[in-house]
Amino acid sequence: MSAITLIGPGAIGGMVAAQLCQNPRNDVTVVARTPFSKLWLDTPDGELLANPRIVSQPGDTGPADWVLVATKAYDSESAATWFASLVGERTTVAVLQNGVNHVERFSAWLPRERILPVIVDCPTERVAAGHIRQRGPALLTVPSGELADRFQALFADTGVTCKQSDDFTSMAWWKLCINAAGVVNALVLQPARIARDEAAAKVMRAIVEETAAVGRAEGAQLSPDIADEVIDIYRGQPPDSVNSLHADRAAGRPMEIDLRNGVVVELGEKHGIATPYNDMAVSLLTID
Ligand SMILES: NC(=O)c1ccc[n+]([C@@H]2O[C@H](COP(=O)([O-])OP(=O)(O)OC[C@H]3O[C@@H](n4cnc5c(N)ncnc54)[C@H](OP(=O)(O)O)[C@@H]3O)[C@@H](O)[C@H]2O)c1
Repeated sequence: MSAITLIGPGAIGGMVAAQLCQNPRNDVTVVARTPFSKLWLDTPDGELLANPRIVSQPGDTGPADWVLVATKAYDSESAATWFASLVGERTTVAVLQNGVNHVERFSAWLPRERILPVIVDCPTERVAAGHIRQRGPALLTVPSGELADRFQALFADTGVTCKQSDDFTSMAWWKLCINAAGVVNALVLQPARIARDEAAAKVMRAIVEETAAVGRAEGAQLSPDIADEVIDIYRGQPPDSVNSLHADRAAGRPMEIDLRNGVVVELGEKHGIATPYNDMAVSLLTID
């Protein structure tokens, strides 16, 4: 039996927790800031109802084999306040967040070798507390190795595919290139169709070129045509699809701008690579 505690049962966390409950060898606990009584997941293949243990007070549960963090990145510090009660000497923390610096984000609280970064690919939204809509297949990617073997085993008999990558760095930067370009949607508050406008696409390409240059300096292998590939992805999306940065800005919520574009600026400075487009986007989105 694997004891798993998931912090942050929003769109991704709620989907993952409900899916983990399908494996009878998992004992699943959910740490919820906004309480609910059970998880209801709409998947493309039908509905799932799951009954994980739900806690909202530290002390209501003890150390787990696995702690999965699925909050937004800007809530990492508040998620980590739970570690004192949840993380024991044998606990591994899996970070299910976007970005490229998952391990750095949590290394203040535990040794790096006990942190597993996870790339999440699954269009998912929260309908209400405890009610999640999964709009497509769920794929989790983790760096190959012993932790990955153990993490993958948690998802046996669930609707989530978990795969290992021998080149996690390149995969994470590839995804960051897509997410970094999405800042243009958030700036102009226009959905995916804006990429069909050549002026917007030009700015998106410049953001991707900067991101890819920094990614290559960090060791990622990225195609020389990556900017065009990213534009093609946006142009292939339903014209009215809204990325999460855009949705958060439109709703007046905090945004994961540090994770998407701020990190490009920060690591660009480290490598002496100019990132004026990303820098400007961060500045414009963080004006009070
Ligand atoms: N949604 C997607 O389709 C998608 C796809 C790929 C990757 N991602 C990435 O996945 C990560 C999670 O995104 P999301 O869309 O799932 O976010 P979300 O729907 O906003 O869910 C975040 C959850 O974290 C909870 N939370 C925050 N601080 C907490 C704390 N201290 N203790 C307990 N719970 C806490 C929130 O509680 P409340 O209920 O009180 O708000 C919420 O339930 C992000 O890095 C995102 O970029 C998302």
